Amino acid sequence: MNHHVASARPDDEPAAQEAGFAQAVIDGLSSEQKTLPCRFFYDAIGSELFEEITRVPEYYPTRTEAALLEGSAAGIAARTKPGTVLVEFGSGSSRKTEILLAQMPHLAAYVPIDVSEDALREAQERLAQRFPALEVLPVVGDFGADLHLPRELADAPRLGFFPGSTIGNLVPHDAQALLAQMGRQLDGGRLIVGVDLRKDLSVLIPAYNDAAGVTAAFNLNLLTRINRELGGDFDLRGFRHDAVWNGEEGRIEMHLVSRRAQEVHLQGHVFSFREGEHIHTENSYKYTLEGFRRVAEGAGWRVTSVWTDARDWFSLQELSRD
Ligand code: TRP
Repeated sequence: MNHHVASARPDDEPAAQEAGFAQAVIDGLSSEQKTLPCRFFYDAIGSELFEEITRVPEYYPTRTEAALLEGSAAGIAARTKPGTVLVEFGSGSSRKTEILLAQMPHLAAYVPIDVSEDALREAQERLAQRFPALEVLPVVGDFGADLHLPRELADAPRLGFFPGSTIGNLVPHDAQALLAQMGRQLDGGRLIVGVDLRKDLSVLIPAYNDAAGVTAAFNLNLLTRINRELGGDFDLRGFRHDAVWNGEEGRIEMHLVSRRAQEVHLQGHVFSFREGEHIHTENSYKYTLEGFRRVAEGAGWRVTSVWTDARDWFSLQELSRD
């Protein structure tokens, strides 16, 4: 995949993207434990639904992390040289980023990376209003890909920002590989990462199964997207969302549960579901501070600052190379 920074544009031809989506879905539904790859959650509707999740009362991570940023942004900015490029991995709406940007008037550029072109465009327009002097260089694509900055920025110091506990959506082995990759992308620069922590299940479960059903709609949107873009015939009423705690792995798992025995057709394939059979769609790991430190150190980082809220629900961590 090619990633260009100069403007927001898809990194692949639509046909190639669709073929990748189709193959991933067919592979996932063909395995013994059916899965659907979570990177396809974030189409335009999915990105909007995720924004809505961040506002439901049960979903504590976004507002807890925003409060931690309010308290730490000035200190982070004080350690950031003028002329630094701020790189955000999985930027979505870039709302939390505004807290950092407000303290960093001397950035050379802000580079938001996200799979949703719509989310990037909206964020860019909003940021242009609030920070007219800021150069925003969006990148459409997966945040693990190589980062090609315009030549005049190639040698600028870099600061990475990876909030939202998105790192927790990867299994620890992949999380470690991604943090190592970010270390290369950031070329010696620091990384600010949001990491959700272990807590009581009475808090955790509702955060991933809110009463208003927004998380359920977000999860089920994956099936809507498969129907629309790939011509599948999932009956949306035939599946329900579930969020379960896997204590052995230390993670919340998102599932879509078949309400009855049924068949689903997709591009010449037939997928059979038993009543109660699950499609596993997403993991959200909850770390201890020691557990995350091991992952970070395994990726060549040092944890140089940790901010947590009074209840120890969420952490913002500064990682450094030296
Ligand atoms: N990074 C978010 C988290 O793990 C993503 C997320 C929140 C999510 N709610 C979800 C992913 C529901 C899938 C389904 O908290």
